[in-house]
Amino acid sequence: MTADRIIKIAPSILSADFARLGEQVAEAEQGGADAIHIDIMDGNFVPNITMGPMIVEAIRGSTSLPFDLHMMVDAPERYIDDFAGAGADIITVHAEACRHLHRTVHQILEAGKKPSVAISPATPVFALDEVIADLHQALVMTVNPGFGGQAFIESMLGKISRVRAMIDERGLTTDLQVDGGVSAATANSVVQAGANVLVAGSAVYNDRMSVAEGISAIRTCIG
Ligand code: DX5
Ligand code: ZN
Repeated sequence: MTADRIIKIAPSILSADFARLGEQVAEAEQGGADAIHIDIMDGNFVPNITMGPMIVEAIRGSTSLPFDLHMMVDAPERYIDDFAGAGADIITVHAEACRHLHRTVHQILEAGKKPSVAISPATPVFALDEVIADLHQALVMTVNPGFGGQAFIESMLGKISRVRAMIDERGLTTDLQVDGGVSAATANSVVQAGANVLVAGSAVYNDRMSVAEGISAIRTCIG
């Protein structure tokens, strides 16, 4: 059943206008977003380099929404305390990027932040098995991480359902986030599969509509 689940939308500022990032973050809040998804890329785990703690700190004053940090960074334990200090609320690390995932999850908890673990498309669900009880959120990637505007990988829908089953069977309240290719065309199937947090980058920040319209188009299609 998906009916009683509150669906949250977290716009990814990766597709925003970086010359006016503060304004774009405020527009997401005014448009009804539930969190701001911030993609941190290190040029190593993924090819791109995006932003560091200084940028996160600089935009912290532009919204009261939670900052949902998606660290696409090798050995992210090196930077968790810096991002915690910069104003992150939820900190996602990739299972593939952590040598000692359990320790890293607990480092996030000890920093007073909400831990989240992401799995890339080729990573099986069981990578979450031993840590999910400690997580605030699990993130199923529906594109290979690294770029905005990629096509949604349909075959990930079954994986979303399997993570939902893992959460529900254990009686957990873990949020299930989906990131990559989420738009008005794909959001409903993602929600039906069991996600309750949708990340949307290019579907919210684009030249065709305002940020508020982009968020509202996604809400409309999930009913
Ligand atoms: C991709 C990032 C995403 C990205 C999503 O690696 O993690 O958050 O911004 O962009 P769209 O929604 O355009 O696929
Ligand atoms: Zn992301």
